[in-house]
Amino acid sequence: MHGLDETRIPRHVAIVMDGNGRWAKRRGLRRTEGHAAGEEALFDTVEGALEIGLRWMTVYAFSTENWRRPLDEVRFLMQFNERLLLRRRDDLHERGVRVRFIGRRGGRVPGRLRRQITDAEELTARNRRMTLTFAFNYGGRAELVDSVRAIARAARAGELDPEKVDERVIARHLYAPDMPDPDLLVRTSGEYRISNFLLWEVAYSELHFTDVLWPDFRREHLFEAIRDYQNRDRRFGGVDEQ
Ligand code: IPE
Ligand code: IPE
Ligand code: MG
Repeated sequence: MHGLDETRIPRHVAIVMDGNGRWAKRRGLRRTEGHAAGEEALFDTVEGALEIGLRWMTVYAFSTENWRRPLDEVRFLMQFNERLLLRRRDDLHERGVRVRFIGRRGGRVPGRLRRQITDAEELTARNRRMTLTFAFNYGGRAELVDSVRAIARAARAGELDPEKVDERVIARHLYAPDMPDPDLLVRTSGEYRISNFLLWEVAYSELHFTDVLWPDFRREHLFEAIRDYQNRDRRFGGVDEQ
């Protein structure tokens, strides 16, 4: 199957979907047309993920830093994500995909998009074939700040002893406490950085970088990344036995 070792499919793949603007520019199009073209890339990748039995996939759709972009682009992205959810949620639901969001829901996220997010989450909440998590208005540092705030509140309420705060307590207060850490982090468009994505969770993820721009990404590229992952030797700080 796709040259993949079926017994070693990663549990969780996280993807930084990058390069939409450059894809559009190369074609003489507006940046927003690059974002629009990213939809097909995402849903082909989701199909591929379902094909190989991937259980968790997380995609970076909008970062807490992306508010710095021109207002037109930000507006486009809000409306685009709202419509994308409306267009795709029934199909995702039929395929057994649970849709979830991580990130800050308040602030500048428009109410209409917030409602689409909640609707999609509620509709698909009981699906178990795959969890597709959108990181939206997401920042790894913001997530840690929010976790620390929740822990501090619990401590103030006397529900938690500050001396007992350990890695498990911090992880339990992240946006999706039941989400396993990504085994594999993929970033497209030839950029070699994390850009504030899942900072806590990627501590021991394998990293795969590709020059492919996100709108050109297809399931074969996901399989390629997983083949690369399957050739890695994960040691988690230990030594190999053999
Ligand atoms: C990624 O593509 C999508 C978002 C950040 C929303 P970019 O828009 O960052 O594309 P480039 O990096 O400018 O090519
Ligand atoms: C990361 O890409 C965020 C998303 C893909 C949503 P960016 O294009 O915003 O990251 P930088 O600015 O190149 O680090
Ligand atoms: Mg970019």
